[in-house]
Amino acid sequence: MSTHELNFLKEKIEELKKAGVYRELPVNYGPCDNVINLNGKQVVNLSSNNYLGLSNHPRVKQAAIDAVNKYGAGAGAVRTIVGNQDIIGQLEDILAEFKHEEAVMCFQSGLNCNIGTIAAITAKGDLIISDELNHASIIDGVRLSKADRAVYKHSDMRNLEAILKEKRKNYNQVLIITDGVFSMDGDLAKLPKIVELAEKYDALTYVDDAHGSGVLGESGRGTVDHFNLHGRVDFIIGTLSKAIGVVGGYVASKQVTKTWLHHRARPLLFSTALPPAATAAAIESVKMLMESTEFTDKLWANAEYFKAGLNKLGFDTGNSETPITPVMVGGEAETMQFSKTLLDAGVYVSGIVFPTVALGKGRLRCMLSASHTKEDLDFAIKTFEKVGKELEII
Ligand SMILES: Cc1ncc(COP(=O)(O)O)c(C=O)c1O
Repeated sequence: MSTHELNFLKEKIEELKKAGVYRELPVNYGPCDNVINLNGKQVVNLSSNNYLGLSNHPRVKQAAIDAVNKYGAGAGAVRTIVGNQDIIGQLEDILAEFKHEEAVMCFQSGLNCNIGTIAAITAKGDLIISDELNHASIIDGVRLSKADRAVYKHSDMRNLEAILKEKRKNYNQVLIITDGVFSMDGDLAKLPKIVELAEKYDALTYVDDAHGSGVLGESGRGTVDHFNLHGRVDFIIGTLSKAIGVVGGYVASKQVTKTWLHHRARPLLFSTALPPAATAAAIESVKMLMESTEFTDKLWANAEYFKAGLNKLGFDTGNSETPITPVMVGGEAETMQFSKTLLDAGVYVSGIVFPTVALGKGRLRCMLSASHTKEDLDFAIKTFEKVGKELEII
Protein backbone atom coordinates (compact mmCIF):
# COMPACT_ATOMS: atom_id res chain seq x y z
CA MET A 1 0.00 0.00 0.00
CA SER A 2 1.24 3.48 -0.83
CA THR A 3 2.36 5.50 2.17
CA HIS A 4 1.80 8.75 0.31
CA GLU A 5 -1.48 10.65 0.61
CA LEU A 6 -0.58 12.76 -2.45
CA ASN A 7 -1.92 15.84 -0.68
CA PHE A 8 -0.16 18.10 -3.18
CA LEU A 9 -2.57 16.82 -5.85
CA LYS A 10 -5.59 17.13 -3.55
CA GLU A 11 -4.65 20.77 -2.94
CA LYS A 12 -4.42 21.42 -6.66
CA ILE A 13 -7.85 19.86 -7.19
CA GLU A 14 -9.29 22.09 -4.45
CA GLU A 15 -7.87 25.06 -6.35
CA LEU A 16 -9.68 23.90 -9.51
CA LYS A 17 -12.92 23.69 -7.53
CA LYS A 18 -12.45 27.17 -6.09
CA ALA A 19 -11.79 28.55 -9.59
CA GLY A 20 -15.00 26.90 -10.83
CA VAL A 21 -13.17 24.81 -13.47
CA TYR A 22 -13.36 21.38 -11.81
CA ARG A 23 -15.31 18.85 -13.85
CA GLU A 24 -16.44 15.24 -13.78
CA LEU A 25 -15.97 13.17 -16.92
CA PRO A 26 -19.35 12.60 -18.64
CA VAL A 27 -19.99 8.91 -19.44
CA ASN A 28 -21.42 7.79 -22.78
CA TYR A 29 -23.10 4.38 -22.35
CA GLY A 30 -23.14 3.48 -26.04
CA PRO A 31 -21.66 4.34 -29.44
CA CYS A 32 -20.86 7.88 -30.51
CA ASP A 33 -23.85 8.80 -32.67
CA ASN A 34 -26.46 11.50 -33.35
CA VAL A 35 -28.26 10.63 -30.11
CA ILE A 36 -26.25 9.26 -27.19
CA ASN A 37 -26.90 7.87 -23.73
CA LEU A 38 -24.93 10.39 -21.69
CA ASN A 39 -24.82 9.73 -17.95
CA GLY A 40 -27.93 7.58 -18.41
CA LYS A 41 -29.97 10.17 -20.34
CA GLN A 42 -30.80 10.17 -24.09
CA VAL A 43 -29.58 13.45 -25.58
CA VAL A 44 -28.97 14.89 -29.04
CA ASN A 45 -25.19 14.90 -29.39
CA LEU A 46 -23.80 18.21 -30.68
CA SER A 47 -20.31 17.67 -29.29
CA SER A 48 -18.48 14.95 -31.19
CA ASN A 49 -15.90 15.16 -33.98
CA ASN A 50 -17.63 12.27 -35.73
CA TYR A 51 -18.37 14.60 -38.67
CA LEU A 52 -19.53 11.96 -41.11
CA GLY A 53 -21.17 9.56 -38.67
CA LEU A 54 -18.69 6.83 -39.64
CA SER A 55 -17.63 5.78 -36.13
CA ASN A 56 -20.78 3.64 -35.78
CA HIS A 57 -21.32 2.76 -39.46
CA PRO A 58 -21.99 -0.97 -40.13
CA ARG A 59 -19.36 -1.20 -42.91
CA VAL A 60 -16.68 0.39 -40.73
CA LYS A 61 -17.54 -1.80 -37.74
CA GLN A 62 -17.51 -4.96 -39.87
CA ALA A 63 -14.06 -4.09 -41.21
CA ALA A 64 -12.81 -3.80 -37.61
CA ILE A 65 -14.35 -7.17 -36.67
CA ASP A 66 -12.85 -8.90 -39.71
CA ALA A 67 -9.43 -7.43 -38.90
CA VAL A 68 -9.54 -8.67 -35.32
CA ASN A 69 -10.30 -12.16 -36.63
CA LYS A 70 -7.41 -12.03 -39.08
CA TYR A 71 -4.77 -9.97 -37.23
CA GLY A 72 -5.72 -10.15 -33.54
CA ALA A 73 -6.45 -7.40 -31.06
CA GLY A 74 -3.07 -5.68 -30.89
CA ALA A 75 -0.05 -5.08 -33.12
CA GLY A 76 2.24 -6.49 -30.43
CA ALA A 77 5.20 -4.15 -30.88
CA VAL A 78 6.39 -0.84 -32.24
CA ARG A 79 6.50 -0.59 -36.02
CA THR A 80 10.28 -0.77 -36.21
CA ILE A 81 10.24 -4.23 -34.56
CA VAL A 82 7.28 -6.50 -35.52
CA GLY A 83 4.30 -4.15 -35.12
CA ASN A 84 4.28 -3.10 -38.78
CA GLN A 85 1.33 -5.25 -39.87
CA ASP A 86 0.68 -5.14 -43.62
CA ILE A 87 -2.70 -3.41 -43.22
CA ILE A 88 -0.92 -0.31 -41.86
CA GLY A 89 0.84 -0.09 -45.22
CA GLN A 90 -2.51 -0.52 -46.99
CA LEU A 91 -3.94 2.34 -44.94
CA GLU A 92 -0.97 4.55 -45.82
CA ASP A 93 -1.31 3.77 -49.52
CA ILE A 94 -5.03 4.54 -49.65
CA LEU A 95 -4.52 7.76 -47.67
CA ALA A 96 -1.76 8.87 -50.06
CA GLU A 97 -4.11 8.22 -53.00
CA PHE A 98 -6.95 10.06 -51.23
CA LYS A 99 -4.82 13.09 -50.37
CA HIS A 100 -3.07 13.15 -53.80
CA GLU A 101 0.33 13.06 -52.05
CA GLU A 102 3.41 10.91 -52.71
CA ALA A 103 3.53 9.10 -49.35
CA VAL A 104 1.79 8.87 -45.99
CA MET A 105 3.13 7.85 -42.59
CA CYS A 106 0.57 6.81 -39.97
CA PHE A 107 0.82 7.37 -36.23
CA GLN A 108 -1.27 6.17 -33.29
CA SER A 109 -3.11 9.51 -33.01
CA GLY A 110 -3.16 13.03 -34.40
CA LEU A 111 -1.45 14.26 -31.27
CA ASN A 112 1.32 11.67 -31.64
CA CYS A 113 1.71 12.65 -35.26
CA ASN A 114 2.21 16.32 -34.45
CA ILE A 115 4.59 15.80 -31.56
CA GLY A 116 6.57 13.15 -33.42
CA THR A 117 6.75 14.87 -36.78
CA ILE A 118 7.50 18.45 -35.72
CA ALA A 119 10.32 17.33 -33.43
CA ALA A 120 11.77 15.02 -36.11
CA ILE A 121 11.76 17.39 -39.09
CA THR A 122 13.27 20.40 -37.30
CA ALA A 123 16.66 20.86 -35.61
CA LYS A 124 18.86 23.38 -33.85
CA GLY A 125 19.52 26.22 -36.27
CA ASP A 126 15.94 26.11 -37.65
CA LEU A 127 12.99 28.38 -36.87
CA ILE A 128 9.34 27.37 -36.42
CA ILE A 129 6.72 30.09 -36.97
CA SER A 130 3.34 29.12 -35.55
CA ASP A 131 -0.15 30.70 -35.56
CA GLU A 132 -1.12 31.74 -32.02
CA LEU A 133 -4.33 29.67 -32.16
CA ASN A 134 -2.70 26.42 -33.30
CA HIS A 135 -3.80 23.22 -31.57
CA ALA A 136 -2.19 22.11 -28.29
CA SER A 137 -0.54 19.11 -29.97
CA ILE A 138 1.31 21.47 -32.32
CA ILE A 139 2.42 23.55 -29.34
CA ASP A 140 3.72 20.40 -27.66
CA GLY A 141 5.53 19.33 -30.84
CA VAL A 142 7.16 22.76 -31.05
CA ARG A 143 8.22 22.47 -27.39
CA LEU A 144 9.89 19.13 -28.13
CA SER A 145 11.79 20.54 -31.10
CA LYS A 146 15.31 21.96 -30.75
CA ALA A 147 14.46 24.73 -33.23
CA ASP A 148 13.84 28.35 -32.21
CA ARG A 149 10.22 29.52 -32.32
CA ALA A 150 8.14 32.56 -33.13
CA VAL A 151 4.37 33.02 -32.91
CA TYR A 152 2.29 35.18 -35.28
CA LYS A 153 -1.06 36.75 -34.44
CA HIS A 154 -3.97 34.61 -35.52
CA SER A 155 -4.17 34.54 -39.34
CA ASP A 156 -2.35 37.91 -39.46
CA MET A 157 -0.40 37.69 -42.70
CA ARG A 158 1.36 41.02 -42.17
CA ASN A 159 2.67 39.79 -38.84
CA LEU A 160 3.79 36.51 -40.45
CA GLU A 161 5.60 38.36 -43.23
CA ALA A 162 7.27 40.73 -40.74
CA ILE A 163 8.69 37.73 -38.85
CA LEU A 164 9.89 36.10 -42.08
CA LYS A 165 11.47 39.34 -43.25
CA GLU A 166 13.30 39.89 -39.98
CA LYS A 167 14.40 36.35 -39.16
CA ARG A 168 14.62 34.23 -42.33
CA LYS A 169 18.28 34.98 -42.99
CA ASN A 170 19.37 33.79 -39.52
CA TYR A 171 18.18 30.20 -39.91
CA ASN A 172 18.73 27.04 -41.95
CA GLN A 173 15.16 25.82 -42.39
CA VAL A 174 12.09 27.87 -41.51
CA LEU A 175 8.82 25.97 -40.97
CA ILE A 176 5.47 27.78 -40.95
CA ILE A 177 2.82 25.79 -39.05
CA THR A 178 -0.91 26.40 -39.13
CA ASP A 179 -4.14 24.56 -38.45
CA GLY A 180 -6.10 24.18 -41.71
CA VAL A 181 -9.39 24.74 -39.86
CA PHE A 182 -9.20 26.39 -36.43
CA SER A 183 -11.05 24.12 -34.09
CA MET A 184 -12.65 26.61 -31.70
CA ASP A 185 -14.01 29.08 -34.29
CA GLY A 186 -14.27 27.00 -37.46
CA ASP A 187 -12.41 29.59 -39.57
CA LEU A 188 -9.96 28.56 -42.30
CA ALA A 189 -6.26 29.36 -42.40
CA LYS A 190 -5.32 31.87 -45.11
CA LEU A 191 -3.50 29.08 -46.82
CA PRO A 192 -2.98 30.61 -50.30
CA LYS A 193 -1.25 33.61 -48.71
CA ILE A 194 0.78 31.44 -46.31
CA VAL A 195 2.02 29.35 -49.24
CA GLU A 196 2.81 32.50 -51.24
CA LEU A 197 4.86 33.90 -48.33
CA ALA A 198 6.60 30.57 -47.81
CA GLU A 199 7.60 30.49 -51.48
CA LYS A 200 8.76 34.12 -51.36
CA TYR A 201 10.93 33.58 -48.25
CA ASP A 202 12.00 29.99 -48.95
CA ALA A 203 10.18 28.51 -45.96
CA LEU A 204 8.50 25.13 -45.51
CA THR A 205 4.77 24.76 -44.80
CA TYR A 206 3.01 22.43 -42.35
CA VAL A 207 -0.80 22.28 -42.19
CA ASP A 208 -2.66 20.40 -39.46
CA ASP A 209 -5.88 19.50 -41.24
CA ALA A 210 -7.50 17.54 -38.41
CA HIS A 211 -10.79 19.42 -38.90
CA GLY A 212 -10.48 19.89 -42.68
CA SER A 213 -9.88 16.29 -43.77
CA GLY A 214 -13.15 14.53 -44.51
CA VAL A 215 -14.91 17.89 -44.43
CA LEU A 216 -13.50 20.33 -47.02
CA GLY A 217 -12.43 19.84 -50.63
CA GLU A 218 -13.48 17.21 -53.15
CA SER A 219 -14.86 14.19 -51.20
CA GLY A 220 -13.31 15.66 -48.04
CA ARG A 221 -9.73 15.68 -49.34
CA GLY A 222 -9.06 18.63 -47.05
CA THR A 223 -8.05 22.27 -46.91
CA VAL A 224 -5.15 21.92 -49.36
CA ASP A 225 -7.55 20.50 -51.94
CA HIS A 226 -10.17 23.16 -51.12
CA PHE A 227 -7.64 25.89 -51.99
CA ASN A 228 -6.22 23.90 -54.91
CA LEU A 229 -2.71 23.94 -53.43
CA HIS A 230 -1.67 20.36 -54.21
CA GLY A 231 2.11 20.03 -54.41
CA ARG A 232 2.73 23.35 -52.63
CA VAL A 233 2.35 22.33 -48.95
CA ASP A 234 5.24 20.27 -47.56
CA PHE A 235 3.58 18.47 -44.64
CA ILE A 236 -0.18 17.81 -44.38
CA ILE A 237 -1.36 16.32 -41.11
CA GLY A 238 -4.63 14.48 -40.74
CA THR A 239 -6.33 12.57 -37.98
CA LEU A 240 -8.30 9.36 -38.29
CA SER A 241 -10.26 10.19 -35.13
CA LYS A 242 -12.64 12.85 -36.44
CA ALA A 243 -14.28 12.56 -39.89
CA ILE A 244 -12.74 9.12 -40.42
CA GLY A 245 -14.43 8.05 -37.16
CA VAL A 246 -11.75 5.82 -35.65
CA VAL A 247 -8.35 6.72 -34.13
CA GLY A 248 -4.88 7.46 -35.51
CA GLY A 249 -3.05 10.28 -37.23
CA TYR A 250 -0.97 10.70 -40.37
CA VAL A 251 1.35 12.96 -42.26
CA ALA A 252 1.02 13.18 -46.05
CA SER A 253 4.17 14.40 -47.74
CA LYS A 254 7.05 13.06 -49.87
CA GLN A 255 8.54 9.55 -49.56
CA VAL A 256 11.68 11.10 -48.06
CA THR A 257 9.60 12.43 -45.13
CA LYS A 258 8.19 8.99 -44.51
CA THR A 259 11.63 7.37 -44.57
CA TRP A 260 13.07 9.98 -42.19
CA LEU A 261 10.14 9.63 -39.78
CA HIS A 262 10.49 5.89 -39.46
CA HIS A 263 14.06 6.52 -38.32
CA ARG A 264 13.46 9.52 -36.06
CA ALA A 265 9.80 10.07 -35.03
CA ARG A 266 9.71 9.00 -31.39
CA PRO A 267 6.05 7.82 -31.25
CA LEU A 268 6.91 5.38 -34.06
CA LEU A 269 10.08 4.20 -32.36
CA PHE A 270 8.84 3.99 -28.79
CA SER A 271 5.10 3.29 -28.82
CA THR A 272 3.14 0.27 -30.11
CA ALA A 273 1.64 0.50 -33.60
CA LEU A 274 -2.03 1.18 -34.41
CA PRO A 275 -4.25 -1.81 -33.51
CA PRO A 276 -5.57 -3.84 -36.47
CA ALA A 277 -9.24 -3.06 -35.77
CA ALA A 278 -8.59 0.68 -35.95
CA THR A 279 -6.39 0.36 -39.04
CA ALA A 280 -8.94 -1.70 -40.99
CA ALA A 281 -11.85 0.49 -39.89
CA ALA A 282 -9.99 3.59 -41.09
CA ILE A 283 -9.28 1.95 -44.48
CA GLU A 284 -13.00 1.26 -44.88
CA SER A 285 -13.93 4.85 -43.99
CA VAL A 286 -11.48 6.28 -46.51
CA LYS A 287 -12.83 3.90 -49.19
CA MET A 288 -16.36 5.14 -48.44
CA LEU A 289 -15.24 8.77 -48.81
CA MET A 290 -13.63 7.97 -52.15
CA GLU A 291 -16.73 6.14 -53.42
CA SER A 292 -19.28 8.85 -52.77
CA THR A 293 -19.83 12.42 -51.60
CA GLU A 294 -23.00 11.33 -49.78
CA PHE A 295 -21.48 11.84 -46.32
CA THR A 296 -19.77 15.19 -46.90
CA ASP A 297 -22.86 16.52 -48.72
CA LYS A 298 -25.09 15.57 -45.78
CA LEU A 299 -22.67 17.11 -43.28
CA TRP A 300 -22.65 20.47 -45.07
CA ALA A 301 -26.43 20.44 -45.59
CA ASN A 302 -26.95 19.76 -41.87
CA ALA A 303 -24.49 22.49 -40.88
CA GLU A 304 -26.15 25.06 -43.13
CA TYR A 305 -29.63 24.14 -41.88
CA PHE A 306 -28.60 24.35 -38.23
CA LYS A 307 -26.67 27.63 -38.57
CA ALA A 308 -29.55 29.26 -40.46
CA GLY A 309 -31.97 28.12 -37.74
CA LEU A 310 -29.85 29.60 -34.96
CA ASN A 311 -29.13 32.84 -36.85
CA LYS A 312 -32.85 33.32 -37.49
CA LEU A 313 -33.41 33.18 -33.74
CA GLY A 314 -30.77 35.88 -33.21
CA PHE A 315 -27.83 33.75 -32.00
CA ASP A 316 -24.34 34.92 -32.97
CA THR A 317 -22.52 32.00 -34.65
CA GLY A 318 -19.22 33.84 -35.13
CA ASN A 319 -17.04 33.61 -38.25
CA SER A 320 -17.16 29.90 -38.90
CA GLU A 321 -16.66 28.74 -42.50
CA THR A 322 -17.13 25.06 -41.64
CA PRO A 323 -19.58 22.77 -39.80
CA ILE A 324 -17.98 23.83 -36.49
CA THR A 325 -20.69 26.18 -35.18
CA PRO A 326 -19.78 28.33 -32.19
CA VAL A 327 -22.67 30.01 -30.38
CA MET A 328 -21.10 33.07 -28.79
CA VAL A 329 -22.19 33.70 -25.20
CA GLY A 330 -19.42 35.76 -23.53
CA GLY A 331 -19.14 35.26 -19.77
CA GLU A 332 -17.69 32.00 -18.43
CA ALA A 333 -20.47 31.35 -15.88
CA GLU A 334 -23.24 32.16 -18.41
CA THR A 335 -21.65 29.84 -20.96
CA MET A 336 -21.47 26.92 -18.55
CA GLN A 337 -25.03 27.60 -17.33
CA PHE A 338 -26.29 27.62 -20.93
CA SER A 339 -24.59 24.27 -21.61
CA LYS A 340 -25.98 22.71 -18.41
CA THR A 341 -29.55 23.92 -19.05
CA LEU A 342 -29.45 22.60 -22.62
CA LEU A 343 -28.27 19.23 -21.33
CA ASP A 344 -31.14 19.09 -18.83
CA ALA A 345 -33.45 19.79 -21.78
CA GLY A 346 -31.95 16.97 -23.90
CA VAL A 347 -29.18 18.59 -26.00
CA TYR A 348 -25.51 18.05 -25.24
CA VAL A 349 -23.17 20.79 -26.39
CA SER A 350 -20.01 21.55 -24.49
CA GLY A 351 -19.25 25.02 -23.19
CA ILE A 352 -15.79 26.36 -24.14
CA VAL A 353 -14.37 28.98 -21.79
CA PHE A 354 -11.07 30.48 -20.64
CA PRO A 355 -8.28 29.26 -20.82
CA THR A 356 -9.25 27.33 -24.00
CA VAL A 357 -10.53 30.65 -25.45
CA ALA A 358 -9.88 34.24 -24.30
CA LEU A 359 -11.66 35.60 -21.19
CA GLY A 360 -15.14 36.88 -22.04
CA LYS A 361 -15.22 34.85 -25.30
CA GLY A 362 -17.10 31.86 -23.90
CA ARG A 363 -19.14 29.94 -26.41
CA LEU A 364 -21.01 26.73 -26.98
CA ARG A 365 -19.25 24.75 -29.67
CA CYS A 366 -21.82 22.89 -31.72
CA MET A 367 -20.38 20.10 -33.86
CA LEU A 368 -22.64 19.04 -36.70
CA SER A 369 -22.53 15.57 -38.20
CA ALA A 370 -23.89 13.78 -41.24
CA SER A 371 -25.51 11.41 -38.73
CA HIS A 372 -27.96 14.07 -37.48
CA THR A 373 -31.52 13.75 -38.76
CA LYS A 374 -33.75 16.73 -39.51
CA GLU A 375 -35.72 15.82 -36.36
CA ASP A 376 -32.53 16.01 -34.25
CA LEU A 377 -31.70 19.43 -35.65
CA ASP A 378 -35.25 20.78 -35.28
CA PHE A 379 -35.32 19.54 -31.68
CA ALA A 380 -31.91 21.14 -30.98
CA ILE A 381 -32.93 24.48 -32.56
CA LYS A 382 -36.19 24.54 -30.56
CA THR A 383 -34.31 23.72 -27.37
CA PHE A 384 -31.76 26.49 -28.06
CA GLU A 385 -34.67 28.91 -28.53
CA LYS A 386 -36.38 27.90 -25.28
CA VAL A 387 -33.21 27.93 -23.15
CA GLY A 388 -31.77 31.01 -24.90
CA LYS A 389 -34.91 33.00 -24.05
CA GLU A 390 -35.03 31.65 -20.50
CA LEU A 391 -31.43 32.75 -19.88
CA GLU A 392 -31.93 36.02 -21.81
CA ILE A 393 -29.20 35.20 -24.34
CA ILE A 394 -31.57 36.05 -27.18
C1 LIG B 1 -6.18 20.62 -34.89
C2 LIG B 1 -6.01 19.32 -34.18
N1 LIG B 1 -4.86 18.63 -34.33
C3 LIG B 1 -4.66 17.45 -33.71
C4 LIG B 1 -5.62 16.89 -32.91
C5 LIG B 1 -5.34 15.59 -32.22
O1 LIG B 1 -5.97 14.57 -32.90
P1 LIG B 1 -6.21 13.16 -32.20
O2 LIG B 1 -7.48 13.27 -31.44
O3 LIG B 1 -6.26 12.20 -33.33
O4 LIG B 1 -5.04 12.90 -31.30
C6 LIG B 1 -6.83 17.55 -32.74
C7 LIG B 1 -7.88 16.94 -31.88
O5 LIG B 1 -8.44 17.53 -31.02
C8 LIG B 1 -7.04 18.80 -33.38
O6 LIG B 1 -8.19 19.47 -33.22
